[in-house]
Amino acid sequence: MGTKGRAIVKLDVEDLINKLNRALADEWYAYYQYWIGAKVVTGPMRDAIVQEMLEHAGDELRHAGLLVDRIIQLNGTPLLSPDEWKKTSICGYLPPLDPHVLKVLEQNIEAEQCAIGVYSELLELTENKDPITYQMVLEILQDEVEHEEDLQALQEDIKG
Ligand SMILES: [Fe+2]
Ligand SMILES: [Fe+2]
Repeated sequence: MGTKGRAIVKLDVEDLINKLNRALADEWYAYYQYWIGAKVVTGPMRDAIVQEMLEHAGDELRHAGLLVDRIIQLNGTPLLSPDEWKKTSICGYLPPLDPHVLKVLEQNIEAEQCAIGVYSELLELTENKDPITYQMVLEILQDEVEHEEDLQALQEDIKG
């Protein structure tokens, strides 16, 4: 990153890079949780759920890309190995051991709610300190809020 580009960040840049890497590990888990969940999910409204989950998986992968681009721009190193995900992730990973739609939806809602918390904190941290990261985090947070809403709407449709 250009020296001026880094200088305008009024934060501890190394700490910010660490936090972005933690969010990156979460995004990979979120991506895989949706992607594998869409493969194994069973029960009512399966097709609609699979479609929604694959759409969300695509969003999570895009978020991972945004985070990596910003980490590199800040002169940081993005997580280079999946071995690092487990110890770096904040939200963790919930395997769809019970593939029933209601259980899978419940797990993904939990993950989204964790993500909303993580990005809200990042938004507060970067507000008026780092407008570029702030804008990126805001964009991601908007998606996560939408994801939670989509999943809860499906949950209500199934429960009737
Ligand atoms: Fe995400
Ligand atoms: Fe999400």
